[in-house]
Amino acid sequence: MAAYREFARYYDAINGDPVETSLKILSHIERYRPQADSVLELGCGTGAILAGLGSGLALTGVDLSPEMLEIAIRRCPGADLHLDDMTTITLPTRFDVVLCVFDTLNHVPTFDGWISMFERVSTHLVDDGIFVFDINTIGRFRRLAEMAPWVHDFDGHTLIMNVEFDGVHSEWDIRVFEHREDKNFVLHHEVIVELGVTLPQLRDALARDFDLLEETDTTGAAPTDESDRAYFVYRRRARGSR
Ligand SMILES: C[S@@+](CC[C@H](N)C(=O)[O-])C[C@H]1O[C@@H](n2cnc3c(N)ncnc32)[C@H](O)[C@@H]1O
Repeated sequence: MAAYREFARYYDAINGDPVETSLKILSHIERYRPQADSVLELGCGTGAILAGLGSGLALTGVDLSPEMLEIAIRRCPGADLHLDDMTTITLPTRFDVVLCVFDTLNHVPTFDGWISMFERVSTHLVDDGIFVFDINTIGRFRRLAEMAPWVHDFDGHTLIMNVEFDGVHSEWDIRVFEHREDKNFVLHHEVIVELGVTLPQLRDALARDFDLLEETDTTGAAPTDESDRAYFVYRRRARGSR
């Protein structure tokens, strides 16, 4: 069963509107692929990023969770949305831009899965198209595991999230206590697993088909395995140029 079955209905309330991420993506497109007219988001979730990209681009999204995708379908009626696995997907089109953001890549639990996903990105990008993605780093997973569980009240409900890390996989134990009008609680529980990969391992895997355009941490500096998050923009090398 795909993750996010229980969490989907609360996802947007907890994460807010990712306006800054959408604006950052638009600035990457403007800079590195200004002629772009098509975008594919892998792991589009509730469609919050796609919705923030505006109406000037043809938008396509793929997600493995029916519950997340259902929200995206309501939010982005003009987008072409698919319930599918980004490590195996085959679409009939190539795109100017492929996105995979908000640590969606970490949700693929094996490094072989990451390699398959990069191969899918390469297949679905036009020559010189750009791949914009981010990851949670190993350092962040370690720090989150050292912290006390995060308790957050929202819309009258309570979220308790605890992260464990064994050096490879990070386990996010998410409990939402839904406060019902009759004053009873209903517990929604879900465990989401993320894989930690070192930046050198990641760069190595991408070198076959992609050239790095930029990589930054949350402060705009060069990322390391201790950064909170690492953002990347790669260009797909033109076919036949190797
Ligand atoms: C943290 S959410 C991010 C959603 C969206 N990118 C955003 O920024 O709001 C991760 C999403 O990736 C999806 N996902 C995880 N593994 C996937 C896979 N193998 N193929 C497609 N989607 C996947 C999950 O269902 C979830 O919706």
